[in-house]
Amino acid sequence: MNDTLAPGLERYDLTDPRTFIDNDVQAMWARFRAERPVYLHPATRGAPPFWVVSRHADVHAVYRDNKRFTSERGNVLATLLQGEDSASRKMLAVTDGPRHRAIRNLMLKSFSPRVLAPVVEGVHRRTRELIAQQVGSGAFDFVADLADHIPIHTIGDLMGVPDGDREKLVHWNTMTLSRTSAEHGEEEEWLARNEILLYFSGLVEERRRSPGEDVISALATGTVDGEPLTEEEIVFNCYSLILGGDESSRMSSIGAVIALAEHSDQWQALKDGSACLEPAVEEVLRWTTPAMHFGRRALADVRIGDTTVRAGDVVTLWNSSANFDEAVFTDPCRFDLTRHPNKHVAFGYGPHFCLGAFLGRTHVEAVLAALREKVGHIELLGRPKRLYSNFVKGYSGLPVRLEA
Ligand code: HEM
Repeated sequence: MNDTLAPGLERYDLTDPRTFIDNDVQAMWARFRAERPVYLHPATRGAPPFWVVSRHADVHAVYRDNKRFTSERGNVLATLLQGEDSASRKMLAVTDGPRHRAIRNLMLKSFSPRVLAPVVEGVHRRTRELIAQQVGSGAFDFVADLADHIPIHTIGDLMGVPDGDREKLVHWNTMTLSRTSAEHGEEEEWLARNEILLYFSGLVEERRRSPGEDVISALATGTVDGEPLTEEEIVFNCYSLILGGDESSRMSSIGAVIALAEHSDQWQALKDGSACLEPAVEEVLRWTTPAMHFGRRALADVRIGDTTVRAGDVVTLWNSSANFDEAVFTDPCRFDLTRHPNKHVAFGYGPHFCLGAFLGRTHVEAVLAALREKVGHIELLGRPKRLYSNFVKGYSGLPVRLEA
């Protein structure tokens, strides 16, 4: 590895969730982009050094290049630093090559516009109803009373998860991806992950016996080159759908409410129609960037910008920096619902581009449309409670009041 430590930047420990809570993160990323866009993060607490890529162009280039960068040894910092991901070659996001393409194609059938049309309708209806119930009813928690009840039902419908099981899945999802505080330990994360896997292995068995129209049935009965998927492939992909489908969408909706409450000019623009929904959704996704980073392992020596990373190195791609890169976004720290173009990487890019991007966009659009239709004024009643994570940017509590 090249020696590309930069004086001053080493005070930012990107393995520590506190770094993202205690610092002015925008100022931090502006420094990385300007001073050391491909930065060698020093080893910490037994974890090896890793590369930090912060410019939009470089993040894009690595996402696109699945020949020289692999996801199969992890795609987030935690697993990359361990050196492996136990779901490797079983779960789409950590599988590469022809197997990735074949399983992605199989899953894509469940995400076609025809299959999704009733799901989209359901997202809009549910969101409108939940927001209407809260308007004028005083203080409530936007996370627990509202956001927690939307995406889980969308992905739950798509997967055919029984209604009564959905609440516990939201709880396990939060414990797995992003602890609500420093007190929740790694053991709880591990237990939650196992609960989800065990839960789906029961459901898969059921769907094999009597398949329906849902995505679990598609995985349980689908074939690649005439062969059924393995039990582990099916269960790990269910796990990835419930996690991907719920957490990031929830976080972008919560972030949307905070951003609108804090930017009254943009709230007015949304209300009076000078900001249309389509660009507004993209700006909310850029602004909130729920998946702060993803990562890869280099398979060869590769030049990124002015720096050479070596075969075997861990390379992390910071969406939360790329989406505020002044080289791509004019006035990036301005929340502008009419921003166009808006080439954000909130959903990644290239072969692993988010499978659920359409659904993610639908969730944000439903929240914006319902707020515009039903709400006159959004009032934040306290500080939003941040999740404790260096992967998911989001909130576990948001006290608000919505007035008609
Ligand atoms: C992949 C973000 C919603 C399922 C990804 C990736 C990102 C992302 C950045 C790329 C990972 C990588 O390159 O390693 C988001 C955000 C969402 C969202 C910000 C909401 C706002 C969803 C939903 C679903 C989903 C609703 C499922 C219903 C997936 C899957 C992959 C993925 C299965 C792996 C795709 C592959 O490897 O080919 N997501 N996601 N996501 N996402 Fe999402």
